Amino acid sequence: MKVFRSVKDFQFWRKTIPSEKSIGFVPTMGALHQGHVSLLRRSKNENDLTVLSIFVNPTQFNQLQDFENYPKTLEQDITIATEEKIDVLFLPETKEMYADNYRLKVIENDFSYSLCGANRPHHFNGVLTVVLKLFNITRADRAYFGEKDYQQLSLIKDMVKYFFLPITIVSCPTIREASGLAMSSRNKRLSSIELEKSSVIFQSINNSKTAEEAADKIQKEGLIVDYIVDFNHRRYAAVQVGAVRLIDNVEI
Ligand code: PAF
Repeated sequence: MKVFRSVKDFQFWRKTIPSEKSIGFVPTMGALHQGHVSLLRRSKNENDLTVLSIFVNPTQFNQLQDFENYPKTLEQDITIATEEKIDVLFLPETKEMYADNYRLKVIENDFSYSLCGANRPHHFNGVLTVVLKLFNITRADRAYFGEKDYQQLSLIKDMVKYFFLPITIVSCPTIREASGLAMSSRNKRLSSIELEKSSVIFQSINNSKTAEEAADKIQKEGLIVDYIVDFNHRRYAAVQVGAVRLIDNVEI
């Protein structure tokens, strides 16, 4: 597996890849779990080469504490990437990704203000900006995103469509624990009791007739509901579990 830490080195490698070879790209913030592994495997199945990026993107965090507490497990991530036979691991640095001090950015003025954007202003602008940069650097044919972050996935699809970006977005099903809890890097920060309680999130949004009914069930477990909203045939949830905010969604 090749590992690049600078954009220049990555781009140098990229130029050596013949145009008939397809590249699949899995952008992540690390702390890899089975959900990420499923994206990597899908990319490997569908492309000649797979690039994995790990970059904890500072511009998508609203609170410094959340950014600082984001789990960092690089050694373990490298082991997973090696076991999965990933071709390239890209580990860019903030000073290079944001050499402009975030003067230039992508701004979405509608859907990004609702759901997760309502309490996390500018979060999705940070996501879209870093994803655009990563797409431009990697020049991949396909990029793989999990449906757990459905709002993120929709906004990225829109960016690709309306900015005419030459990349196909592949949406991949949410991978869940046996309890139903959606796999997330943030689960690593839950205590065993919190982990157990969190299974109520999926069970409630999946088995309730209304968003209100789901919210009631979750609150009865002592968890704090940020929102449960039915929108466009999908039920979206964000729930605070101790210090950790979890999200999930199901088709309705
Ligand atoms: O879903 C994530 O891990 C991040 O939001 C992403 C897409 C890698 C951008 O930083």
